[in-house]
Amino acid sequence: MPTLTQLHEHLTFLSPLSEERAARVVAFLAAGDPRAVLDVGCGWGELLLRVLEAAPRATGLGLDLDETSLVAARERAVRRGLGERVSFEMRDAREATGPFDAVTCIGASQIWGPDTEEALPLDYSAALTALRALLPRGGRLVYGEGIWSRPPTPEATAPLAGLDDEYVTLGRLVELVEGHGFAVVAAHEASLDEWDAFESGFTAGYAHWLADHAPEHPESAEIRQRAARQHTAYFGGYRGVLGLAYLELVAV
Ligand SMILES: C[S@@+](CC[C@H](N)C(=O)[O-])C[C@H]1O[C@@H](n2cnc3c(N)ncnc32)[C@H](O)[C@@H]1O
Repeated sequence: MPTLTQLHEHLTFLSPLSEERAARVVAFLAAGDPRAVLDVGCGWGELLLRVLEAAPRATGLGLDLDETSLVAARERAVRRGLGERVSFEMRDAREATGPFDAVTCIGASQIWGPDTEEALPLDYSAALTALRALLPRGGRLVYGEGIWSRPPTPEATAPLAGLDDEYVTLGRLVELVEGHGFAVVAAHEASLDEWDAFESGFTAGYAHWLADHAPEHPESAEIRQRAARQHTAYFGGYRGVLGLAYLELVAV
């Protein structure tokens, strides 16, 4: 398997999330003066570290299954002087037990649903039930969740699960969270710019690999294929159709 540069070298977050939006959701969580913060599917932990910087009395727990990302998260924590206030653990987030004062779940709700390989509709209800169980009333959740921005087209669904009902609209998502013990403080949607920046993190890895290796390298064909698959899937497929909602929620 060819070794590509790590995604965290090209992306700040492993989701379509601008600096401006990140600052906004961090401020929302920190305003509750949390003591215990959980990030499920934390990746390399950038968002959790920013919450801890903004909430000086908080300690954090980041859970993920990807040890490479967790190593990067622990290194970042130490570099930022947060090593004593945060723990990044390789654990299934389904095992997390609350209560936490603040939780973030961004692009990670598939944790509670069917395996993505099974190509089934996203199980919003399972995720929201599990997330609500982690918070007391008044606890805060930043929930970054997949939605349809526009009615799905065959080109958009083909590289995803191939289903028109894999996701719901923002309006339906708001109804769903309200039906699972949350009140909506704010509901936004990632912009196309945020999506382009996110997907470009992947294209950058392929581009740099191709620039660093001669065309006759034995792994060149595979990298070109992978790049072409991603470009067709996004630029020719779900761009502008697959969306990501950012909901600022309080448990009620
Ligand atoms: C799309 S990424 C989002 C990462 C991060 N929240 C961010 O926005 O930068 C989803 C993350 O969930 C993690 N993940 C998937 N299944 C998991 C599970 N059962 N328990 C914990 N983490 C899981 C993946 O390894 C991946 O890092």
